[in-house]
Amino acid sequence: MSITYKKLDPKDFEDSFDANQAFALDVLVGLSETHKSLSSKYLYDSAGSELFTAITKSPDYYPTDCEREILVKYADEIAQQFNGVAFNLVELGAGIGEKTKILLKRFTELDLEFQYVPIDISEGAMIELVSDLKETMPEVETNGLVSEYFNGIKWLNNRNERRNFVLFLGSSIGNFNHAGARTFLRNVWNSLNHEDCLLTGFDLKKDIEALLLAYNDVAGVTAQFNLNLLVRINRELGGTFDLNKFRHYGTYNVFNGAMESFLVSMEDQDVYIETIGRSFSFREWEPIHTEYSYKYLESEVKVLAAETGFRVNKMLFDSRRFFTDSIWTVHKPGA
Ligand SMILES: C[S@@+](CC[C@H](N)C(=O)[O-])C[C@H]1O[C@@H](n2cnc3c(N)ncnc32)[C@H](O)[C@@H]1O
Repeated sequence: MSITYKKLDPKDFEDSFDANQAFALDVLVGLSETHKSLSSKYLYDSAGSELFTAITKSPDYYPTDCEREILVKYADEIAQQFNGVAFNLVELGAGIGEKTKILLKRFTELDLEFQYVPIDISEGAMIELVSDLKETMPEVETNGLVSEYFNGIKWLNNRNERRNFVLFLGSSIGNFNHAGARTFLRNVWNSLNHEDCLLTGFDLKKDIEALLLAYNDVAGVTAQFNLNLLVRINRELGGTFDLNKFRHYGTYNVFNGAMESFLVSMEDQDVYIETIGRSFSFREWEPIHTEYSYKYLESEVKVLAAETGFRVNKMLFDSRRFFTDSIWTVHKPGA
């Protein structure tokens, strides 16, 4: 079996331009706002992906263990979705695919006919995933794409007629606010065919203390992960952020139901960014918003499916009901 990955070239998409330019533009826009913000997708350079893996191993970060428990327990039920039909197992934001390997192993044992298409913006994570699969599961045909979610899906759809089973694990859906999640899921719906499936991990609303600990782990790995965004701006855009003058702050917004991460300036300061050619001023205690992690009620998951054209097939829970993997089917009336 072949196990490869392809880095999608901007030329594959007329409307995209150089990734470094896009990063610079997003940083310019985000740091020019009254309430400064940076997109969480930029947290994942190679170092960021490694730090995220370290977070998933922290005893304080429960979502990975919960989802692993679900995938181990329900691998056979999940496999039934496409038993007897050849399909693409497309994974959005695959990272290093640690939990996905549970499904890959079971699908292979059950002799399902599929190719695995992990899609991730982080080339570092993709290299690790692909080389690990070469060694541990050479029988799984793997064609990875280093790309934004939608460029990856578009690229795949132009080349493949198979049914699709899309995985969106790890509660990455929580990085979108509710309007953003609807837009994202509508886009996924639009690029899939009637009866294709989507399995999404949703982190559920729970004791606020458990949430706060998960995003402020005692060992400080989440803080390092968040601060790495400034390291990345320094390296890739010629920034002059002094890491000692910013701190990580993770808090739960009870009104919108989201954990939110910030980098807070510890003093009045100006930071020059060479590629952008200008300085940005920070006041003492001024925050940069870096990440949302929206938490859901079971009922909110079902409403979201209905609003975006999907039918809920199954809601799979861990033993503590901290997390759900929800399996939806694409419903296209008249198809
Ligand atoms: C929270 S991690 C989840 C990783 C893995 N799925 C898991 O469950 O442990 C999010 C992953 O999505 C990737 N990612 C974030 N934004 C992305 C985007 N816009 N397009 C493609 N991948 C993205 C990151 O590089 C990272 O590997």
